[in-house]
Amino acid sequence: MQIYGKFYQKSWDERMKQIIQSESLNTVQTQLLRDSAVNKSLGDTMIENYITDYHFPEGIAFHYLINNKDYIVPMVTEEPSVVAASSHGAAIIAKAGGFFAKSSERMMIGQIILEEVTDVKKTSEELKSLEKVLLEIANKAHPSLKKRGGGAKWLRVRILDYDLISVDIAIDVQEAMGANMINTMLEAVALNIKNKLQQVILMSILSNYATECIAKASCKIPFELLSKDNVSGKSIAQKIAQASRIAQLDVYRATTHNKGIMNGIDAVVMATGNDWRAIESGAHAYAARNGRYKGLSSWSVDDNYLSGEIELPLPIGFVGGSIGIVPLVKVNQKLMNVESANELENVIVSVGLAQNLAALLALVTDGIQKGHMKLQLKSLVTAAGAKDTEKEEIIKYMLAEGKRDLASAKTILAGIRKRGKNDGH
Ligand code: HMG
Repeated sequence: MQIYGKFYQKSWDERMKQIIQSESLNTVQTQLLRDSAVNKSLGDTMIENYITDYHFPEGIAFHYLINNKDYIVPMVTEEPSVVAASSHGAAIIAKAGGFFAKSSERMMIGQIILEEVTDVKKTSEELKSLEKVLLEIANKAHPSLKKRGGGAKWLRVRILDYDLISVDIAIDVQEAMGANMINTMLEAVALNIKNKLQQVILMSILSNYATECIAKASCKIPFELLSKDNVSGKSIAQKIAQASRIAQLDVYRATTHNKGIMNGIDAVVMATGNDWRAIESGAHAYAARNGRYKGLSSWSVDDNYLSGEIELPLPIGFVGGSIGIVPLVKVNQKLMNVESANELENVIVSVGLAQNLAALLALVTDGIQKGHMKLQLKSLVTAAGAKDTEKEEIIKYMLAEGKRDLASAKTILAGIRKRGKNDGH
C-alpha cells in the first residue's frame, strides 16, 4: 500500500488519478466513480480519504398514524419489500386506531473506566461521595447543555472486577445524540478523578447501551382486520402470537425476528442522519437484557384483539452531527413533520412494530417469498443484465412461470433478445 502514500493529503483529482492508475480501472468504472461523486466538499468534510458518494435509495412509507397524528416516513434501504411492508403493517394498525408511542427522557450513559484499583470498595465509596462535585465538573465542561435544561444528572459506580471500576454518568442530551458532548464531559471528570484520587484511568467513552433513552410503541388490532383469503383473522392473530412466543424462546428465531424490526428502524435512522451502528448495537444488547437474547417485540391475543408492543433504546439525535450538514436530512425531517427528538423516536419505534407485523403476517400466511420476491424481481432482472426497456417483460414472464431466481431471469432475457433478433429488432 506504499504506492498510495499520504492519500488523505491529496486533492480529489490527485486521489482519483492515483486510484484509477493503481487499480487499472477501465473507462466505465472510472466514469462511474467520477459521476457518483456528487458532493465532493461534503464527502470530504464527513469522512477521510473520500473518493465518491455511494448511493442508497430512499422511499416513503405511508399510513402511519401515531398518537393521533398522521405521518409519512422516509426510509433509506437497499432491500426490496421493506418500504412496501412498512406501509402494509402501518395501514393495518392505522385502521385499528394507530400506534400509541412514548419515549423516556433522553439520557445517555457515559463510562469512565478505572483500572489497577487496589481497593475497589473504598474507591467506590469515595467516588460516590464525590457525586455532586463530579457532576459539576462534567457540566462545566459543556455549560451550554446545562443552560438548555440538560447536562449531567446522576452518577453511579459499578465494580466490574477486583481491580476495575466503571463510573457511569447519566447525561441528559436534550435534542442531540450527544456523543461528542458526553466524551468531552467524561474526559474532564476523568482528569479530576485521576488527580484527586490518584487513580489510573483506562478510558472514558459514552455507552451505546442507552438504557435511559427508551422508546415504546403498542397497538391493538381487531381480528377482522387480519383475515385473508378465507382464513379467519383470529386464526392469523393466534399464529402471529405464536411466532412472537417463539422469538421469546429461541435465539435463532429471535435474531431474525429482530432483523425484521431493524429493517424498518435502520431505514428511518439512516434517512434522519443518525448513527445506525449505535442503534443496532444498543437494540441487540437490550434484547439480551435479561440474560437471554429475545425478540424486541411481543404479540398476544385476547378474545377479540391482537395486541403488539415493542420497546428498545433509541438514542437518536434531532440536531448536531451529520444531521446539521447533510441537506437531505433536513428535507426528511420536514417530510416527516417531526419537531423533536422524542417525536422522532416515537415514529421510529412505531416503524419497528409495523415492520414486524408485516413480516409476521406474511410468514404465517403466504410465506415471505410471495410478497418479498415479487418486489425483489426488479433487482433480480437488473442483476441479470436487463435494460430498463426489457425489465417489465422479463418480470411478466417470471411471474407467469413462477420463477424467482437469477438463472431463470438470464434465460428469459436471452430468449427475449433472441426473439427480438429473429423479429428483426
Ligand atoms: P400484499 O398483501 O400482496 O399487498 O402484500 P397489497 O397489494 O394488499 O397491499 C397492501 C399495502 O402494502 C398497500 O396498501 C401498500 O401500502 C403496500 P395501499 O397503499 O395500496 O392501500 N404495498 C406497496 N407499497 C409500495 N410498493 C408496492 C407495494 N405493494 C404493497 N409494490 C407485501 C405485499 C410485500 C406488502 C407483503 O407481502 C409484506 O408485507 N411482506 C413482508 C415483506 C418483508 O417483511 N420484507 C422484508 C424483507 S424479509 C426480512 O428481511 C425480514 C424477515 O426475515 C423478518 C422475520 O422473519 O420476522 C421476514
